[in-house]
Amino acid sequence: MRTELLGCSDEDIKLAAQLIKAGEVVGMPTETVYGLAANALEPNASKKIYKAKGRPSDNPLIVHICELEMINSLVKYIPDIAKECSKKFWSGPLTMVLPKSDIIPFETSGGLDTVGIRFPANQTACKLIEKSGVPIAAPSANRSGSPSPTCAKHVFEDMNGRIPAILDDGSCSIGVESTVICFEGEDGIRILRPGFISAEDFMQITDKVYIDKGVLHSVANDQKVASPGMKYKHYSPACDVTIIDIDNHKLAEFAGSLSESTAIVTPNLIENSQKLKCKNLVFGDTAEKQAKNLFDLLRELDELKCTKAYFTRPLEGGVGMAVLNRLLRAAAFKVIKI
Ligand code: TXA
Ligand code: MG
Repeated sequence: MRTELLGCSDEDIKLAAQLIKAGEVVGMPTETVYGLAANALEPNASKKIYKAKGRPSDNPLIVHICELEMINSLVKYIPDIAKECSKKFWSGPLTMVLPKSDIIPFETSGGLDTVGIRFPANQTACKLIEKSGVPIAAPSANRSGSPSPTCAKHVFEDMNGRIPAILDDGSCSIGVESTVICFEGEDGIRILRPGFISAEDFMQITDKVYIDKGVLHSVANDQKVASPGMKYKHYSPACDVTIIDIDNHKLAEFAGSLSESTAIVTPNLIENSQKLKCKNLVFGDTAEKQAKNLFDLLRELDELKCTKAYFTRPLEGGVGMAVLNRLLRAAAFKVIKI
C-alpha cells in the first residue's frame, strides 16, 4: 500500500473522510500527538487500527468527537462531575472513561464495558470527524512500543505502507497524549494517565483527585490495571535511557565523563558543550517545553545512533507528571542519583 502525505486543506480533509467512510485508517493530527483514525462504530475498521499499529487488541481505543452532543449516544450515562469536566476542559487534551453504550463495538473498547471519549481542540481533527460523519477511534499513530508521533514525518516513519494517507498539520502543540480519567463515586476523579490537564487543574472541580498507582510505578504484565495501556512496554527507543537526579552544578563534570556514543539531555545546553565527547541535547527549561520535546528527543537519539542517554529528571508541576510518566517507561524505571 502507498501512503500518501496530504496537507490539511478542505480538499485533503474531504479525501481523508472518504477513506474513513470506506473503513480505512488515516493519520490524523491532534493537539497532543498524531492519531490513527478510523470509524469507531465499525469493528473491522478498529481491527485495521490494531493491525497497522501491531498492538494487542485488549488495549482499548479512545473515541473522538467533534461536538458535545455526540457523546450522548456513545455512553450509558454521564455523571454530573463528568459534565463539569467537559465544560471546563473540552475541547482539549482530556479523555473521560465512561460506561459504553451498545453501539460501541468491543473491538473498539478492547473488550471493556467502558469507553474513553475525547473532544480534541485541533481544527483539522474536528473537521475530519465532522466530514466523516462518525465518531473516530484513534490511538497514537506510532508502532506499538515506539514513541508517540508529534509530527507527520514520525507517522510516516512508523506507518509507511501500512495506511493509505496522513493529514499533515505541522507539529503538535502539546506533545504528550491526553490526560485519561475515570470517575469514582459522586465527585471523585482518578487520573489513569497524566497529561496536559493536571491534578492541580482537577482540584478546581473537586478535592477528591486520585493518581492511579500505575502512573508512576511499574505494572507487571499479568496485573489487572485500570488503564490497560500502562502495562505495555512503551515509548522505548533502541537507545538505553536512564533518568538522572543531579544538581545543576554537577552536570558539566558528569557530562565530561561520558563517551561519544552517549547523549545527555539537559534543560539548557551545558556551558562549552561543544567540547564534550558526548552529545548534549536540549530538554527545555519548563515542563511545557519538556512535554513538547520529549518524543522528538527519543526518536532523535536513535537517528544519532546513541547507545545510551541520560535525561535530567523532568521538572515538576502541571504537565511535568506526564513527562515523568512517559520518561519512566522509556527508561524502564531506571533512575539514578548522582
Ligand atoms: O492524546 C491522546 O489521547 C491520543 C490522541 C490521538 O487522541 N490518543 C492516545 O491513544 O494516546 P492511545 O490508544 O495511544 O492511548 C490510550 C490510553 C491507553 O493507555 C488506554 O489503555 C487508555 O487510554 N484507555 C482507553 N480507553 C480506556 C478505557 N475504557 N478504560 C481505561 N483506559 C482506557
Ligand atoms: Mg499510545
